[in-house]
Amino acid sequence: MYKLLTWASGLLVFLFSITRALDNGLARTPPMGWLAWERFRCNIDCKNDPENCISDKLFRTMADLVVSEGYASVGYEYINIDDCWLDKRRAYTGHLQPDKARFAYGIKDLSNYIHSKGLKFGIYEDYGNYTCAGYPGVLGNLELDAFTFADWEVDYVKLDGCYSLPRDMDKGYSEFGFHLNRTGRKMVYSCSWPVYQIYNGMQPNFTAIIEHCNLWRNFDDIQDSWASLESIIDYYGNNQDVIVPNAGPGHWNDPDMLIIGNFGLSYEQSKVQMAMWAILAAPLLMSVDLRTIRPEYKAILQNRKIIAVDQDPLGIQGRRIYKHKGIEIWARPITPISQHFFSYAILFLNRRTDGTPSDVAVTLSEMGLTSTSGYRIEDLYEDVDYGVLTPQTKIKVKVNPSGVVMLRADVQPVYRQITPYDPFRQAFSLRTLNDFKKK
Ligand SMILES: *[C@@H]1O[C@H](CO)[C@@H](O)[C@H](O)[C@H]1NC(C)=O
Ligand SMILES: *[C@@H]1O[C@H](CO)[C@@H](O)[C@H](O)[C@H]1NC(C)=O
Ligand SMILES: *[C@@H]1O[C@H](CO)[C@@H](O)[C@H](O)[C@H]1NC(C)=O
Repeated sequence: MYKLLTWASGLLVFLFSITRALDNGLARTPPMGWLAWERFRCNIDCKNDPENCISDKLFRTMADLVVSEGYASVGYEYINIDDCWLDKRRAYTGHLQPDKARFAYGIKDLSNYIHSKGLKFGIYEDYGNYTCAGYPGVLGNLELDAFTFADWEVDYVKLDGCYSLPRDMDKGYSEFGFHLNRTGRKMVYSCSWPVYQIYNGMQPNFTAIIEHCNLWRNFDDIQDSWASLESIIDYYGNNQDVIVPNAGPGHWNDPDMLIIGNFGLSYEQSKVQMAMWAILAAPLLMSVDLRTIRPEYKAILQNRKIIAVDQDPLGIQGRRIYKHKGIEIWARPITPISQHFFSYAILFLNRRTDGTPSDVAVTLSEMGLTSTSGYRIEDLYEDVDYGVLTPQTKIKVKVNPSGVVMLRADVQPVYRQITPYDPFRQAFSLRTLNDFKKK
């Protein structure tokens, strides 16, 4: 009994160690939607490239497709503008204003349209004198701009950090969040606060960041390549002890947009990004041309089983539990919980480039899955149901080069279980595991 109580209080600390978090009721699971930047950048040339420039038409078109192509029905809901929507100057009244040629009907009209589709509307600004692309920033107009966004019925604000001082950000980002709150309109608040401080050699105060932001960027902008994706995976793995505890309902680490369906990732690599983002409890913000995406990539983005892992209500971010010779195993505790045993999403990642699948064999208990009642194991990409397996069962998977196998292990009901259990401690024993073989 004593042991169980100790364990239970340990779990409470584990789950609720973040005592104060932004309390706007939003982003209880990681936000999902579409964001312009990675794919469409700062293309403002509507004269020569009317179909792809940052314009009213682009966002209406993507909103239409999010609904008509089934993305909305699997959970994607935000349509988010990024940089380059603004006029170079504020209005004579001091208000922000969009570029008049590219957003001819104004932002409120676009917002109304997106809402009429049953979707939500996001916008971009910067806590600095300028946005990264050189348009007016919010510095000096924090209150006015927060109220302008509320007037436009914005649902989500991404606040970048170019042209500002990282040491001012603790004050600045919290101040803008204060004004957002005072408008009375609930807006998801996405911050770039930690990443700029880290680049400046500072240690971000995550206690404060969690109090003020629904999500935040920790690392580089994603680019359209496997190398960029790998660098992000490594950053989150190598820094997981600092990063993982900060995630939870209402407050998320943001490893940046999904680039699935663009030019830089193979089919296998695209499956890696979707699976990894679900393990990381990451926002799922697609940045892709939904007019031309191929069906197999659309299927990855609409994989309901993997989205369910990403959106798991516990909101515990997963960790890398094994890394050796190009093979990694990542695990994320998810629902259902039976007694004190979690279920898990498990990801086998092959970073190797020798051109044949790698065999990985590991028992459930080596990965920290120790409930004697067993786990129902299901493959989330392939239609394979392994049935209910005991902790001693060895799982064998073949993982393609720069590819992934993702499993879900649902713990079976426990009627009487006595061993106290720390969801991650046992998983660490895997660091010594070394039994995957090359064919
Ligand atoms: C922003 O502009 C003001 C006015 O020109 C200037 O005083 C201030 O130093 C600038 N801030 C930054 C962070 O560049
Ligand atoms: C403002 O903050 C209070 C206190 O945290 C919270 O209860 C309220 O829901 C917030 N309102 C908005 C609009 O974010
Ligand atoms: C970090 O932020 C918290 C909450 O705002 C504050 O109480 C604490 O003093 C800050 N820590 C440091 C080292 O500045």
